[in-house]
Amino acid sequence: MERKKIPYQKTIFVCVNKREDGRPSCAHSLEGGSELCKALKESVKAAGLKGKIRVASSGCLDLCAQGPNLFIYPDGVWKSRVGLADIPQILSELGIC
Ligand code: FES
Repeated sequence: MERKKIPYQKTIFVCVNKREDGRPSCAHSLEGGSELCKALKESVKAAGLKGKIRVASSGCLDLCAQGPNLFIYPDGVWKSRVGLADIPQILSELGIC
């Protein structure tokens, strides 16, 4: 095993979990976790932050009825009911732009 320094300043973990059994999931709220994750990746790239900010899809974060959910490491910030319209604010709050 190799021990390495984290290569990104911050990582945004976005729940993309999708349930087919009728229970709430981030995939079925607002525009959906997958769409949010994809749009965040595109926005990070467009802002020139690729390599500094990593957007990673996540499995269930256990607040399914409040989705789409994301959290930002190492900031300790959690956001629920996140929509595509929230992306500019999320990026500005990273303090890197
Ligand atoms: S489905 Fe996203 S938190 Fe559970």
